[in-house]
Amino acid sequence: MNFRVSIDIAPTAAEAAIRVSARIAEHISIAAMSPRPCRLGLATGSTPEPVYCDLAGRVARGELSMASVATFNLDEYVGLAKDHPQSYHTYMHRQLFDHVDIDLSQTHLPRGDAVDPEQEAKRYEQAIAAAGDMSCQLLGIGRNGHIGFNEPGSEPDSLTRVVQLTEDTIRANARFFDDIDDVPRQAITVGIGTILRSQHIILLATGESKASAVAAAIDGPVTKGHPASFLQTHPKVTFVLDRAAAGLLRD
Ligand code: PGA
Repeated sequence: MNFRVSIDIAPTAAEAAIRVSARIAEHISIAAMSPRPCRLGLATGSTPEPVYCDLAGRVARGELSMASVATFNLDEYVGLAKDHPQSYHTYMHRQLFDHVDIDLSQTHLPRGDAVDPEQEAKRYEQAIAAAGDMSCQLLGIGRNGHIGFNEPGSEPDSLTRVVQLTEDTIRANARFFDDIDDVPRQAITVGIGTILRSQHIILLATGESKASAVAAAIDGPVTKGHPASFLQTHPKVTFVLDRAAAGLLRD
């Protein structure tokens, strides 16, 4: 069954990020009053950086506490140790964890330097399921429609696993590394099936470079050629966009 996703178009990328931060903060505050702690799925990349900055500001001003939040990141590069400057562990500490009152023992990412990455992927999937899946999942989107590192061709029921990154993704992420040859070729990513078990999904996309991926995700057919299109099969998805990323949507 397909659902019409909710779309929230902000005038600027900065405003879109603030709206996502506000949605997450509200989710955390509501969950704090319920017996089940908030399980927040987190994304990396450039797009969510202002979201994390805004969440940190809310915590610093005493408007929000993340003390009872458990987080699970979408992915990590295979081969990078936690303390590698380009690991997503390092990213999360730099962008969010070091600036908020979160219990670090409740923050989770796959171990990129695990001796057996396949086994690590299975462990991570089990940890997510044991936590009760994500109550709120934040996503970005790749220019090729990937969510997490679920590249085109990913199955809708895929679980956490080791994946090969596409050349497009390697090129897009090379900007974070000194040399394109330093970009890992594999990652551990949660699956599309793992993502679709989340109660609520928020996808943030900003900038013209994401407009065609966003349009295909929302208005195109549901196809593994464009993994974000599987979000149309989830009942509670909100795309938060700036005007540029929304530029190719049908009216
Ligand atoms: P970006 O990455 O935010 O750096 O564009 C998004 C993604 O690839 O999911």
